[in-house]
Amino acid sequence: MSDLPDAPTLDAVIAHRFSRRDLMRGSLAAALAAGVAPQAAAAPADRPSFDFPELAAGVDEHLHVAEGYEAKPLLRWGDPLFADAPAFDPKKQSAAAQERQFGYNNDFVGFIPLDTEGRRGLLVVNHEYTNAELMFPGLDAADRKGVIAALNPAQVAVEMAAHGGSVVEIVREADGWRPVVGSPYTRRITALTPMDLTGPAAGDPRLVTEADPSGRRVLGMINNCSGGVTPWGTWLSGEENINYYFGGALPAGHPEAGNAKAMGIGSLQYAWSRFHPRFDLARTPNEPNRFGWVVEIDPFDPGATPKKRTALGRFKHEGAAGARAIDGRYVVYLGDDERFQHVYRFVSNGRVQAERGANVDLLDSGTLSVARFEPDGTGRWLPLVHGANGLDAGNGFGSQADVLIETRRAAKRLGATPMDRPEDIEANPRTGRVYVMLTNNTKRTADQEEPANPRGPNAFGHVIEIAPDGTDHGAETFRWEVLVRCGDPAKPEVKASFSALTTENGWFGMPDNCAFDGRGRLWIATDGNNRRATGRADGIWAVETEGPRRGTARHFLRVPVGAEMCGPCFTPDDETFFVAVQHPGEPDEDGALGSYEKPSTRWPDFSPDMPPRPSVVAVRRTGGGRIG
Ligand code: FEO
Ligand code: CA
Ligand code: CA
Repeated sequence: MSDLPDAPTLDAVIAHRFSRRDLMRGSLAAALAAGVAPQAAAAPADRPSFDFPELAAGVDEHLHVAEGYEAKPLLRWGDPLFADAPAFDPKKQSAAAQERQFGYNNDFVGFIPLDTEGRRGLLVVNHEYTNAELMFPGLDAADRKGVIAALNPAQVAVEMAAHGGSVVEIVREADGWRPVVGSPYTRRITALTPMDLTGPAAGDPRLVTEADPSGRRVLGMINNCSGGVTPWGTWLSGEENINYYFGGALPAGHPEAGNAKAMGIGSLQYAWSRFHPRFDLARTPNEPNRFGWVVEIDPFDPGATPKKRTALGRFKHEGAAGARAIDGRYVVYLGDDERFQHVYRFVSNGRVQAERGANVDLLDSGTLSVARFEPDGTGRWLPLVHGANGLDAGNGFGSQADVLIETRRAAKRLGATPMDRPEDIEANPRTGRVYVMLTNNTKRTADQEEPANPRGPNAFGHVIEIAPDGTDHGAETFRWEVLVRCGDPAKPEVKASFSALTTENGWFGMPDNCAFDGRGRLWIATDGNNRRATGRADGIWAVETEGPRRGTARHFLRVPVGAEMCGPCFTPDDETFFVAVQHPGEPDEDGALGSYEKPSTRWPDFSPDMPPRPSVVAVRRTGGGRIG
């Protein structure tokens, strides 16, 4: 634990978090004991449960939010976080400056309260990736290869420092939230931050490199997409598209070739391997095995070493949102965001303890399972355990480390259901039901349609609702159904299934992230809407999950052109909704690159000298009050 001046309040904060969650757990348990189904905080059946006026869908250079709300950028790429951080100067950006400033392409946002009044907290934010061509002048290139060839070592160093994550203390004042520059909690994590590999795969020979003979120490985390906050106040962060960073080629006949192929290694998007041998497969063939994990970070101690928890498997991790089993074990739901990959669940061996320090290594031992969705609406979690069900030496799995390093191959061997790109998976704290965002899969063919992935091709994605048997996140079986097939309901060929109450602004495509407010209502953030695909920008839609309005969506917020919507997160009092605007200023079409000189928007500063800046935005009701 840290010796920070505010540390003594931590127990109270954690107790506060526990009390809110335990209350929900308690009401759930009481309802179950009484033999009645737990209810969400539903509005009367004849009225929507959301009261904001619906926003008009569309695309332009600005961020828009429903009338009666205000959205203020809170943290922009380059904003100084430490007292000694230089002001942001995009024309003179350096790695040294970037390490002291807010990073690029904010994705997951978590809020950890520092008081019980809702006025102070820590924001933990993932910086997933970088758009070099939008960050640096003079990189206008025909394609990605051209950008990779043009980048110099100093620019690559900036990119590495702009990856990772940020811990930022924020306070709420009369005119809204502001960051506490120089707070003792402030931390930047980058692609160079030393981290431990822990759990069953730590120290395995397949994680050993020349620079790390222990197989237990790695520099940095990359492509951290979504995540979660645990009840003991740590931040979980999922490494996703790690394949984009590794260049060169494995030596001929190398034993990692199949593993590399399964993770898509070789589809290079970055110049890092030109200057850093650890990203060159020919020189460091095991380095990719040290990425693709869930990282646990203690935001209360800036000196704490982040831990890559290998027990949660290695794949393209979207998020790591959790819940508790009825017996107190911690459960983490995990999506592998790629076409035909899988939905996972980790259940700890131990139980969550009220004393914070007792949970330090809870995520190092437990069972990782993968979901099989049966056509009849039932489902089962298949455990990925070495020695069982063919996960043995005869099939190339010599140990549990092998099962975890090659989680995808193990899941396929067990007969897991191949899904349409599983993104965020979150449990509704009021009902115990679990929601899976499946963003799309244009490669699924009509003859690959099946009930859990009912459209081939699936251009607009869908949302699956899982009801764990016994309303227990630790149960081995569940029931499931499709909550909504996304896309334009006015086009019969799209086969969307929003409720008929959904307006022309209310439908959306490509669900990616989601959040529940304190009343257990679902809010979905999208990635992939644009003028061509849906005639609308990405944004936030509130979705009814209960009663006759189930499946009705309503548009709340939309991002500037080129951006996607990430990180939705409510404060415990529901009075602030944090959202993350990622890669504003990209061209509004698929595949085009864009440039620093000609971005599609200069949001949020709209200054001719300023490029667009990915930013976390705080949304509040004008005059205060609960959102929605
Ligand atoms: Fe980084 Fe799956 O989105
Ligand atoms: Ca995502
Ligand atoms: Ca995304």
